[in-house]
Amino acid sequence: MVRVVESVDQVASAAADLVGAQLCRDRRTRLGVATGATPLPLYRELARRHAAGDLPAGELTLFLLDEYLGLGTDDPRSFRAVVVDHLARPLGIPDGAVHAPEVGAADLQQACRRFDALRDDAGIDLQILGIGRNGHIAFNEPGSAPDSGCRVVQLTDVTRSDNGLGPKDPTHAVTVGIGSILRARRLLLLATGPTKAEALARAVHADPRSPAGALSGHPDLTIIADRDAAALLGPAPTPTDGAT
Ligand code: PGA
Repeated sequence: MVRVVESVDQVASAAADLVGAQLCRDRRTRLGVATGATPLPLYRELARRHAAGDLPAGELTLFLLDEYLGLGTDDPRSFRAVVVDHLARPLGIPDGAVHAPEVGAADLQQACRRFDALRDDAGIDLQILGIGRNGHIAFNEPGSAPDSGCRVVQLTDVTRSDNGLGPKDPTHAVTVGIGSILRARRLLLLATGPTKAEALARAVHADPRSPAGALSGHPDLTIIADRDAAALLGPAPTPTDGAT
């Protein structure tokens, strides 16, 4: 299902409704969380609802998708730090309930296998996703296999530049694979702004050259996009609260 709404705020609000409904069904929800700019308004809205007493969240468990290699454990740019600051702490989720790839491990391949197993054993109830301009999901860049597992990847120049990384910043990351993402029970892909229009259209049309094209094979995929990101989905998309 694709929902097209008017603004970034409405994307956040519609996505927060969906996360809230999931939490009503299961207070112990295992939530897969994305980083990047796109989900931050959603996390702000979840924090707002929690502060207002509208979102019981203390029993949530969070699973990150990816993490840079080579950043210090206390670097504020690490994805764990972003998720703790923007989501876990405001929602009262303890650090121990925030799981991320162990990028400090001596044996990264083993750490990747452990993280895949952790996600699979827990069972991700709802996976929040952003999409890169080049169609990447997590750090699965173009060319990633649809059944790929957790692994070390080299970041493309497009992704490094989009993420504001300079010459001395990380060139590699650990990412959950597309296979693990597809094993989540439910996927929620968010896309905002005109720079995502082409990538979103390729995802929706299941373009095999786009990593996000694999998502359309999932039985429970919800896409929430603002009007700019949805601009190439079809003729003159009209903002609506229903399915398009
Ligand atoms: P962004 O990144 O939300 O910062 O645009 C999206 C992504 O890389 O998945």
